[in-house]
Amino acid sequence: MLLTAIAFGLRQATDMLESRPVSATVAVQEPPPTSRSAVLRALDPAMTIVSRDGVALSVRPMRRSDGPALAEAVAGLSERSRYRRFMAPKPSLSRREVATLTDVDHHAREALVAVDPHTGAWVAVARYATFPDDPRTADVAVTVADAWQGRGVGSALLELIVDRAAQEGIAALRATTLAENRPAIRLLHRLGFATTGLEHDALELARAV
Ligand SMILES: CC(C)(COP(=O)(O)OP(=O)(O)OC[C@H]1O[C@@H](n2cnc3c(N)ncnc32)[C@H](O)[C@@H]1OP(=O)(O)O)[C@@H](O)C(=O)NCCC(=O)NCCS
Repeated sequence: MLLTAIAFGLRQATDMLESRPVSATVAVQEPPPTSRSAVLRALDPAMTIVSRDGVALSVRPMRRSDGPALAEAVAGLSERSRYRRFMAPKPSLSRREVATLTDVDHHAREALVAVDPHTGAWVAVARYATFPDDPRTADVAVTVADAWQGRGVGSALLELIVDRAAQEGIAALRATTLAENRPAIRLLHRLGFATTGLEHDALELARAV
């Protein structure tokens, strides 16, 4: 329960993917590699990231109307990915959770969705949400569809959400993950997060923006 509260209450940060196709109309830009994860900061509103194996994905901000897609995305994740994301068993999202997770104002709370332009399927979501008592600090989280994990997508999308946080004047970022979640910890460390604490099985990390 505590971990669920962290995931949905204090953190207000979750993300997910979905296997259900959605209509994606965001233009794909040809990306010059700019980092190891080959992220492209492109022209607003169209953004593109490229997987390590060269697949270009469109990135767009989440919309409040994305609730059904989001719920289906969570259902499409493997049990392990859902558990790692929510730090508790999570077969499906409640309506309230969906409402919370799609409550993005693009300032204090932002989420970016990476979409396969060929299929329209959601590939990854990264988000941040500022803390009510500290609006210059935000919690971040990222989730990648199982078939896309290990291909650089999580790193690239997390870089974009860090950039968005910087644009909004956020000064510090925090992340919470299970201590056993080596892929998430490696990703966060590589992007400049330092471990700040361990409580039970949850690792806390932080970095300046
Ligand atoms: C954690 C997660 C977001 C990483 O995204 P990703 O796109 O797979 O990550 P990347 O491909 O960018 O790789 C990040 C690092 O993790 C490593 N990694 C990826 N998959 C791995 C795996 N299955 N086992 C071990 N390491 C793995 C990569 O080698 C890379 O490390 P390196 O750059 O030092 O070599 C993704 O695995 C995921 O969605 N997991 C489920 C949800 C979750 O745990 N979210 C984190 C909440 S903060």
